[in-house]
Amino acid sequence: MKLLDSHEIRIDSWLSDAEERCLANDVLDGLTRPFKELPPKHFYDTRGSELFERICELPEYYPTRSEREILETQAEEIIRITGAGELVELGSGSADKARILLDAMAGAGTLSRYVPLDVSEQVVADAAKELVGDYDGLRVHGVIGDFERHLDRVPAAGESPRLVALLGGTIGNFPPGTRRALLRKIGALLGPRDRLLLGTDLVKDPAVIEAAYDDSEGVTAEFNRNVLHVINRELDADFSPEQFDHIAYFDRRYEWIEMRLRARRPCSVLIAGLGLRVEFAAGEELRTEISAKFTRARLEADFHAAGLALDRWFTDREQGFALSLACRPPQ
Ligand code: SAH
Ligand code: AVI
Repeated sequence: MKLLDSHEIRIDSWLSDAEERCLANDVLDGLTRPFKELPPKHFYDTRGSELFERICELPEYYPTRSEREILETQAEEIIRITGAGELVELGSGSADKARILLDAMAGAGTLSRYVPLDVSEQVVADAAKELVGDYDGLRVHGVIGDFERHLDRVPAAGESPRLVALLGGTIGNFPPGTRRALLRKIGALLGPRDRLLLGTDLVKDPAVIEAAYDDSEGVTAEFNRNVLHVINRELDADFSPEQFDHIAYFDRRYEWIEMRLRARRPCSVLIAGLGLRVEFAAGEELRTEISAKFTRARLEADFHAAGLALDRWFTDREQGFALSLACRPPQ
């Protein structure tokens, strides 16, 4: 469905009833398992996106600052190497980081189009309006959709090489098998001159990671509980979010951090929209997110398994975060 079409901005939405079905399926599937789990994409309604933006400003949440540092020092080099004039950004959010790449494209005289894809409609619409006001001649083609299901809705490439970006460490929110499958699907968007730009958080002191996911102001805790507010609203459920504690736990074996919601006392939740009653024992946990931390070797193995090859690897000064350029090697 076309939401908006002007000379500079076009926004297509591929979410509608299908998205409600997707939440319903995920809740039915995830909350009836012996170990309860939900996929993290359901955090991001308008409130969840706002909470995420607040997380990015927190002193403990280093990934945003580290990735920005890399972009600020390397964006010109990235655009020089790739010659890119088009940026496709998956999970674009507020598009703040995109600006650094768009500036570099404008400086190189290649800038033509920005294609943000996100499940959160409001953030894409807001970013599109601001960006066309700030960049002369920029066209924005927004896609409201799920990058696991709607990559085929990304518009065909224009004349110039394109950069397909997945920033912020979002790839780490998928377990290893799904992660590789997603990288393979993203790789299918790349022509011979195109590159993937992938942000990954790196393995480091677990105390630093745990603090980033359990901040002193409790913003991450609210972000975590937001998924229960989303289920209450969309599926007519009666969760009491404040009855769940926020847990952030670094699993050293898998080198990923997990966010969980732990029931303070036994509770019985009615999800009327599904005709489902779900019981939580005292202390029972619901896993809401994993966020994998990488080494260069782990990432190279993932790229290889997904039919991609690492081209360039950039890190911040503290080597806490990496930005990789990858390509599809000729067959
Ligand atoms: N890229 C930004 C935002 C990261 S937050 C940054 O680096 O700061 C993750 C973003 O991905 C959110 O905007 C969320 O709405 C979006 N997102 C999460 N799962 C998604 C999915 N399956 N499909 C599309 N967008 C998704
Ligand atoms: C979007 N994603 C990469 C964030 C992360 O760090 O895994 C989401 C987040 N969860 C808690 N804080 C931020």
